[in-house]
This record gives sequence, C-alpha cells and structure tokens, in this order.
Amino acid sequence: MPVDGSNALLAWYAVDKRRLPWRAEAGERPDPYRIWLSEVMLQQTTVAAVIPYFEKFTRRWPNVETLAAAADAEVMGAWAGLGYYARARNLLACARLVAAEHGALFPDSEEALRRLPGIGRYTAAAIAAIAFGRRAVVVDGNVERVVSRLFAVEEALPGARETLYALTDRLTPATGAGDFAQATMDLGAGICTPRAPDCGRCPVASSCEAQRRGDPELYPVKAAKAPRPRRQDVAYWLEHGGEVLLVRRPPKGLLGGMLAFPTGLAPAEAEWREAGSVDHVFTHFALNMRLLCASADARGEGIWWPVDKLDEAGLPTLFGKLAARGAEWRQAA
Ligand code: ADE
Repeated sequence: MPVDGSNALLAWYAVDKRRLPWRAEAGERPDPYRIWLSEVMLQQTTVAAVIPYFEKFTRRWPNVETLAAAADAEVMGAWAGLGYYARARNLLACARLVAAEHGALFPDSEEALRRLPGIGRYTAAAIAAIAFGRRAVVVDGNVERVVSRLFAVEEALPGARETLYALTDRLTPATGAGDFAQATMDLGAGICTPRAPDCGRCPVASSCEAQRRGDPELYPVKAAKAPRPRRQDVAYWLEHGGEVLLVRRPPKGLLGGMLAFPTGLAPAEAEWREAGSVDHVFTHFALNMRLLCASADARGEGIWWPVDKLDEAGLPTLFGKLAARGAEWRQAA
C-alpha cells in the first residue's frame, strides 16, 4: 500500500472510528492505565465481549493504585467469564509492580513495557503507540488479515507472521502509529472481515492486491490445523444445607486461580448421581465434563457457597454451565 493508502486509511479513521470506552476523545490525552487494561482484555477476545468488563473494572478500580490494592479473589471473580485467566493473574502482578516500583506510572517504551508481567510483543507495541505516541509496529489478527490482503501474501500463517510484521512495519507512519494501528484494526473488524469483506466501503481498496485479484477471502492463507483433541473429566456438586462445595483451583494450569467445583477425584464418599454433562471448547482441546451430584451429611473442609448466590461466585463459564446442571438436579431431587 503506497503512502497515500495510509493517509486514506487515517482520513477514514478520523471520521468513522469506533467510539470505544478506552479511546480518548479529540483533545484528550490517552490514559495509559485504560489503554493497558483494554489491550490486555482484548488479547484473544472481541471488542464486544470486552466492553462490559472494561466498564466494570474501571468503575471499580479507576487507576493502577486501586487495582494494585485489590484482593486476588476480587479480581479473579471480576474477570470470570472473560477467559484466559492467566491474563487476570498477570494483570494484578503487573499493577502491583507498576504501583510499587514505577511510582504508579507505566513505562513509555516498548522495551520497558515488555519486562512487565502479561505484556508481550503485541501489547507492548500497542501501549507504546496508543498511550505514548511512540512509533511501534502493532500486529494483531485483524492487522494480519488486512495486510495479508493488501499485499496478497501467499505464505501461510503461522509461518507468515514475520513477513506480515515486516510489511506492517513498512506501512506504519513515523507519527500517528497508534491511530494507524487502531484504524487497521477497525477496518479489519468492520469492513475487511474474515468472510464477505465489504470492499465497496474500503478506503484502501484501490491499493489492495487481493481485491485486484478478485478474491480477498483467500487471505490470509492458513496452514491446515490438527483437529482439537477431546478430553473427558468429572466435576462434583456436593451440597449441604443449601450450600455447595467450591474449591480455588491451583494458580498454574487450566482456569488457574479461579473458583470451581471439585474435579477429578470425588471430594467425599457419597451416593453420587449422574446429572448430565456439558461441552466446552478451550483453545487447545474440547472438553466434555460430567457432573456428579450428592448431598453431604455434614459440611466438611472447603469453601461452602450458598446455592442461590452461585451467580455471584465468579465461576468461569465452564463451571457456570455445570451450575445450571446442578440446579436442574436439585429441582428434580
Ligand atoms: N483490538 C485490540 N486493540 C484494539 C483497539 N485499540 N481498538 C480496536 N480493536 C482492538
């Protein structure tokens, strides 16, 4: 895309950009805390899913000091449903480090940002460009799609990643890299979509090689993926006196740090009854989880949670689905 293409994209963005709660209005300075929080939430997650969480977090924790002072369980609970829970653990670790060792100010270079927990190449570049006006090359999935089409890149992802980074580097302007990145993301989200891109509305269609060739949907080329493995597990609903047993999952691993029903081994000897199963898809596998339910004679060790307040427990989505099975079992019992 020649330079006039970048300019056409920026002109389109100036008029048609999405109003998003972390974006500064004209004349306002971007708030690095809000940019950081939004970019961590937006890793692997859509804008539509992020908005309510972003609003909830910034209402509750308006700056990095208040977030740094929050209890782990509060933050993990507030993150419940957004997925990829390592992000929430790293978010807190990062907030605490910035509060304790950086005078509550985010560093303003990509290099220093990358040393913080949960901030990789993409997020460091996005924060440096959007919050601090640095020239940085910001490449997410939307940018990869747009750039692969502009240049009709035949090399397949994921191998093409460095090629796409180098091409994005060539397009990125010396000033306004943050706007350029967000313009490309907005274009990818609204016009240069994976299926049925709306080339008639695209401000850079005349510089797009894939559009010239007539089939932009062919890009980005992707290597064939191995099918997702399937796994099976069992969860346990143990109830006593209107309360159900929850456990805090170990910090590392699947759904680490989150509240959940016990899984794997039964938490007690009891007359376990089958209460159906749920399917849930994680990035690297598909899980089928059976639920076994029982009443306990006594309330043993562990976290006992009122059944009628389970929606406030901050269960991750998989366990929220299982809670619905548990509620059906009670109704039937
Ligand atoms: N996806 C990730 N970061 C984004 C941003 N700043 N604007 C729009 N979409 C995004």
